[in-house]
Amino acid sequence: MNKQVIWITGASSGLGLELSVQLHQLGASLILSGRNVQALEELKQSLGNRHQILPFDLAEPEKIGDVADKAYQLFPKIDQLILCGGISQRNLFIESSLELDKKILDIDFFSNTELARAVIPQMIRNKGGRIVVVSSLAGKFGYPLRSAYSAAKHALHGYFETVRAELHDEQIKITIVNPGRIRTNISYNALLADGSPQGTMDYGQAHGMDAAKCARKIIKAIKRNKKEVYIGWPDILLIYIYRFVPSIYHRLIRKLNVR
Ligand SMILES: NC(=O)c1ccc[n+]([C@@H]2O[C@H](COP(=O)([O-])OP(=O)(O)OC[C@H]3O[C@@H](n4cnc5c(N)ncnc54)[C@H](OP(=O)(O)O)[C@@H]3O)[C@@H](O)[C@H]2O)c1
Repeated sequence: MNKQVIWITGASSGLGLELSVQLHQLGASLILSGRNVQALEELKQSLGNRHQILPFDLAEPEKIGDVADKAYQLFPKIDQLILCGGISQRNLFIESSLELDKKILDIDFFSNTELARAVIPQMIRNKGGRIVVVSSLAGKFGYPLRSAYSAAKHALHGYFETVRAELHDEQIKITIVNPGRIRTNISYNALLADGSPQGTMDYGQAHGMDAAKCARKIIKAIKRNKKEVYIGWPDILLIYIYRFVPSIYHRLIRKLNVR
């Protein structure tokens, strides 16, 4: 990571913030993105002047091209893009709407694919680069109260596995990260059916893995050039249950405390 330029979304909070701190310690120069300018400024000041902030809204995927132009004005070469920014939801499908589904897909899927589309051509010209995609266990199987979130995370897998296959010979590496429940503000910010944030901490997140520990595991996966990694015991057990004994998953997931 030393001397690499890494653009990270979701740097203002939780997992992205912890990743930023640890990547700074490893010698990377960072482009820190999110919407909360004050949080990004404070992070930059605590880390030092070799980093830059680039605030923007992931809910506007059509503007990503302009945002990427600004990123290249900050640093002429970007070695890694970490797609960590995102929003969850806490509402039943039956209460949801097309408007809410589209908003979540814009933030959690389309902006990520647009960011990759904006940086990968330059990475190819520079003979390589890495995209780190922060998905979720909800990207591996359906998860109640999170229909659009789970759909967006599933879509990331199909999309970026395809990109990986197509660009293998161009040295474009893709690392997909699937965390279980991590202690961050994700459930506070998760959207209810009316589009407002839930504003409360779920039991699952309150008792989840420490965000700094999760960030360490993500960095380890990047260093080891992993294609995909599952993080957070015992939550990741569900991935194996889903794969090898799906009938148990189908019964379990209906009864699980998903908050
Ligand atoms: N925590 C978990 O249990 C968990 C589990 C699996 C996967 N994940 C994934 O981990 C990633 C990080 O989430 P977290 O747990 O760290 O939650 P968090 O503390 O709520 O952080 C979310 C980050 O995403 C940014 N973000 C949200 N909406 C945005 C928007 N419209 N435009 C730009 N940035 C936006 C936020 O920045 P601003 O507020 O500044 O905009 C913030 O930096 C997400 O992709 C999430 O799906 C989390």
